[in-house]
Amino acid sequence: MPLRITVIGTGYLGATHAACLAELGFEVLGLDANEDQVSALAAGRLPFHEPELGRLLEAGLHSGRLRFTTSYADAAAFGDVHFICVGTPQRADSDAADLSHLMACVDALAPLLDRPCVVVGKSTVPVGTSDIVAERLARLAPVGPEAELAWNPEFLREGHAVADTLRPDRIVVGVRSARAETILREVYAGPVAAGVPFLVTELPTAELVKVAANAFLATKISFINAIAEVCEAVGADVVPLARALAFDDRIGGRFLVPGLGFGGGCLPKDIRAFGATTRELGVSSVSALLGEVDAINLRRRARMVDLALELADGSLEGRAVGVLGCSFKPNSDDIRDSPALDVAGTVHGLGARVTVYDPAAMHRARQVHPELEYASSMADAAADADVLLLLTEWREFVEADPEVLGRVVAQRNMADGRSALDGDRWRASGWRYRALGRPDTQASADDSVSLTS
Ligand code: UGA
Repeated sequence: MPLRITVIGTGYLGATHAACLAELGFEVLGLDANEDQVSALAAGRLPFHEPELGRLLEAGLHSGRLRFTTSYADAAAFGDVHFICVGTPQRADSDAADLSHLMACVDALAPLLDRPCVVVGKSTVPVGTSDIVAERLARLAPVGPEAELAWNPEFLREGHAVADTLRPDRIVVGVRSARAETILREVYAGPVAAGVPFLVTELPTAELVKVAANAFLATKISFINAIAEVCEAVGADVVPLARALAFDDRIGGRFLVPGLGFGGGCLPKDIRAFGATTRELGVSSVSALLGEVDAINLRRRARMVDLALELADGSLEGRAVGVLGCSFKPNSDDIRDSPALDVAGTVHGLGARVTVYDPAAMHRARQVHPELEYASSMADAAADADVLLLLTEWREFVEADPEVLGRVVAQRNMADGRSALDGDRWRASGWRYRALGRPDTQASADDSVSLTS
């Protein structure tokens, strides 16, 4: 009999994991406390934007292998393996991770576990959390130690969630027994047969791999953005510089794209939580490093506002500013800790009339920033603008024709927050073109870069 799997928490990570496991042939029951979320998924509606996932969700529902519930009793009765995929956001009162959803989920599930099973943590957590969860499981589960804990961090990127789940770079499992390892090998037999590396570790190592990976990615982005600060101080250009670094295989070009920096629901909160953990552990080298990574990242947003001010000749009071992009990255409708929205909000606070256009995220942005105006197209956001800000590099913006946009704006001023445009082309069309980390001069030809993620 194939394993029966539950996925608890059907947000971004859980919904993707559930649909992909059904695609791999397992019987899957997704559980979420949020009834609206469960009814939407059960009706084949994705509550967020993610390419490919809608198709998989529909296929899973259609096959009968994928179902959703709000009942922990159903989940406990159904599952041989329970994946916990609930969110661990930043706490409101500190940098640490909020583990309340995770603990609530364990406390609801454990007392119902009356047959052998493996509970697999997938949420991103501070190292040491698995010890607390294991103790709770052992204390609360009627089946005792036969409800065993494993940790299996997730590395998927929004916008690539399906591919990253079905064909990840690696699968890491933290286990305490051969039995748990065997069961997880069965879960991931498909990807492993296709050549995906399968790494088995202790639980704390598995917890740490995830935060270390995100900390490294954030550090790499902040490194090139710190170099952008140097470029700004001496009139050098960070774009060809980054490209020159990228030719060195040991450095590589991925996550080395300078600009407005990182946001989203993962990198910012994960580096802060890791900083908090390492401070507690007394490993100040990591907390100091990550504090600086965070500070460099946030300074890019302030610098972007400076560029807008520069293009508006020193004052944004009463000026019309068109903002292109408000999601934290392209191909996503996620606005959590979005650098773009942060900048748009600050520019509005400086007295500008800000009109935002984003292909996917405006419905979310409207809820948190009702003071901004929202346009239904790029051209509408640009109409009569004194300054345009490119803040999220959606393809539509990168491919925009400077001549066409130039006809609708009041003044041809472009601040490119993502080094995504060909500055020469925009200047040739009569635009004042400014970009982070780049001199205010005619740059060399063909010097735009695209974000590799
Ligand atoms: C990130 C990690 O990339 C995933 O591996 C991880 O699984 C995930 O967090 C998670 O912890 O769940 P994600 O938040 O989807 O994934 O976004 P990324 O593609 O990593 O981008 C993060 C931010 O960095 C974006 O705001 C992006 O614009 C920015 N970025 C990325 C740069 O500023 N420069 C770059 O070169 C690359």
